[in-house]
Amino acid sequence: TTPLRLGIAGLGTVGVGVVRIIRQQSALLEARTGRKITISAVSARSKDKDRGVPLSDYAWEDDPVALAKRDDVDVFVELMGGDAGPAKDATEAAIKAGKDVVTANKAMLAHHGQALAIAAESAGQVIRYEAAVAGGIPVMKTLTEGLAGNDITRVMGVMNGTCNYILTQMQATRQGYNALFDEADKLGYLEADPNLDVGGIDAGHKLALLSSVAFGTQVDFDAVELEGIQNITLEDIDAAADMGYRIKLLGVAQMTGRGLEQRMSPCLVPAQSPLGQLEGGTNMVVIEGDAVGQIVLRGAGAGMGPTASAVLSDVIDIARGLRLPTFGQPATTLKQARPAKAAVP
Ligand code: NAP
Ligand code: HSE
Repeated sequence: TTPLRLGIAGLGTVGVGVVRIIRQQSALLEARTGRKITISAVSARSKDKDRGVPLSDYAWEDDPVALAKRDDVDVFVELMGGDAGPAKDATEAAIKAGKDVVTANKAMLAHHGQALAIAAESAGQVIRYEAAVAGGIPVMKTLTEGLAGNDITRVMGVMNGTCNYILTQMQATRQGYNALFDEADKLGYLEADPNLDVGGIDAGHKLALLSSVAFGTQVDFDAVELEGIQNITLEDIDAAADMGYRIKLLGVAQMTGRGLEQRMSPCLVPAQSPLGQLEGGTNMVVIEGDAVGQIVLRGAGAGMGPTASAVLSDVIDIARGLRLPTFGQPATTLKQARPAKAAVP
């Protein structure tokens, strides 16, 4: 059998994690897929940076678009980030060049996922993005495969490790915001623009993607009612604790008589509940289906190993020939599902 050849654009926290797994687990990956998974070429901004993994076996491209179009690349792995710019240009180029795409980029997909999915699906290619939502937790596969026989009634959870880390550490250590910000950075949790994290936008991107898959609706990030954690103070945390609650940045998506409601905002949750007990960069996603009842998924929502694990799961799907549509059903069949956020009380 022929190897599955990857081109990886982005060699930061996630990209290096992916290179490491492919180098360290090549025999296991081959045993599980029946094919060798190889890296043909890589790209990042700086060629000379020491990234802690050997890269000399791979061709180097300064331009991710050139990488995406290479003849020796079967799957373009986009791990640069950014809702537009090089990530989107290179993804579009990869689709045009007949490549499958794996990405961890929720910002790009929340804004352009539907158009990208339509382009890929109409050409017989796939875009996979398990790593984009809740890091190492296999939530997209749970929805698109494990729970595919259910009418999903509600999806909710804590989906941003940075915010959960800051909120839980504020309470535990009584440190201020800035010190905890720096710690989250050291752990590899932060987006290149950390305002996406603390503003609730990153978690909102994830909720928009989850909603689409759960409810068969068009990805509609603008309909997510958003509020970040920037204004939460130690006094707020203490007041919540006095009443037996914790403050969490909680996302909720549910279908109502008025259409799809999507909210991402700081909420009080009982301190002793599973959500209340969730600490550090951990994420939790709760899914409710008509047949299955309630499913609770918990795990690392960010960081090198967990996120690379999710990227690899998509690469493995492609190596195995699993070619599911991006949002669990063909992107052209997704329904519109307003109300817009103004209509949500
Ligand atoms: P990162 O550490 O900031 O790495 C980004 C990489 O992209 C860097 O290697 C950078 O090159 C490269 N890059 C940026 N712009 C480029 C350009 N114009 N051309 C070529 N390369 C470019 O980011 P990350 O944390 O790995 O995140 C990558 C993606 O995964 C993002 O979409 C993020 O939202 C998503 N994600 C991250 C996590 C996490 O825990 N970190 C979890 C889930 C999803 P240089 O190194 O040379 O600067
Ligand atoms: N910045 C994100 C977080 C990375 O803190 O959860 C994972 O998506």
